[in-house]
Amino acid sequence: MGLNITQQCYLQKMGIDIYVPRQDHAADVVAAIGQVHTPVDTGIDRPEWESLRKQVAACTKCELHKGRIQTVFGVGNVNADWMIIGEAPGRDEDQQGEPFVGRAGKLLNAMLHAIGLQREQVFIANILKCRPPGNRDPRPEEVVCCEGYLKQQIAMIKPKIILAVGRIAAQNLLKVDTPIGQMRGNRYEYPEGNIPVVVTYHPAYLLRSPGEKRKSWQDLQMAMKIYNSLI
Ligand code: URA
Repeated sequence: MGLNITQQCYLQKMGIDIYVPRQDHAADVVAAIGQVHTPVDTGIDRPEWESLRKQVAACTKCELHKGRIQTVFGVGNVNADWMIIGEAPGRDEDQQGEPFVGRAGKLLNAMLHAIGLQREQVFIANILKCRPPGNRDPRPEEVVCCEGYLKQQIAMIKPKIILAVGRIAAQNLLKVDTPIGQMRGNRYEYPEGNIPVVVTYHPAYLLRSPGEKRKSWQDLQMAMKIYNSLI
C-alpha cells in the first residue's frame, strides 16, 4: 500500500514506525493537500433519521438513562461507506453527546487518517447510546434494549464496510463470544445486508498497549483492501 505524507504522519502519531523508500514526495504532498471531500449528509433533512434520533434521546428502556447527561446517538455522514462501531460512551462522550471525543477518540481519528479517511466522512456509533457507570462493560440486557437503534442506523446508512473496534463491539455485533485476538485478521459479515465486518483493537486498549498498534494497522489495511475490492 503506497502511503502519502499525511498517512505517514498519522502512522507516526499512532506510534508505528514505517519503512519508506527514499523518493521525492512532492506528488504525495500535492495529492494529500488536494484531497477531495464529498459533502457530508448529517441526516438533518431526513425525517426517519431525525425521528430515530429523537427516540434515542428520549429512551428510558434500561437503567442507564438514569445516570446519563445525554444520549450519544452517533456522528458523521449518513451516506458513509464506512461505519465505525465502538462500545459505549465514556465520561467525555456523555458530556459532549458525541462518540469518541476523548483520548481514545483522538487515536481513532489518527487511525482513520492513516487509511485516508476523515472522521466526518464515516459514521461513528456505539453498541450502547448511554454511558455505563464507571465505564463498566455493557450488560446483556442493556445491549438488548439498545441494539434496535444501532440496527436501524445500519439499515439506513447501508455502509459498505463496518469496522468494529474492541471486543465488546465485535462480540455484540456478530453475536459471538470469540476472544478479540482470534477475531482479528478475519472477514466477518453483518447478517442484515451482508455487510463485511473487520475487527480491530479498541483505541483505549491501544493507548494502554502501544505494542499492539502494529496489529491494528494490519487490520486497517485489511479493511481497506476489502473496501477497495467492493467499490
Ligand atoms: N469508547 C467507545 O467505545 N466509544 C466511545 O464513544 C468512547 C470511548
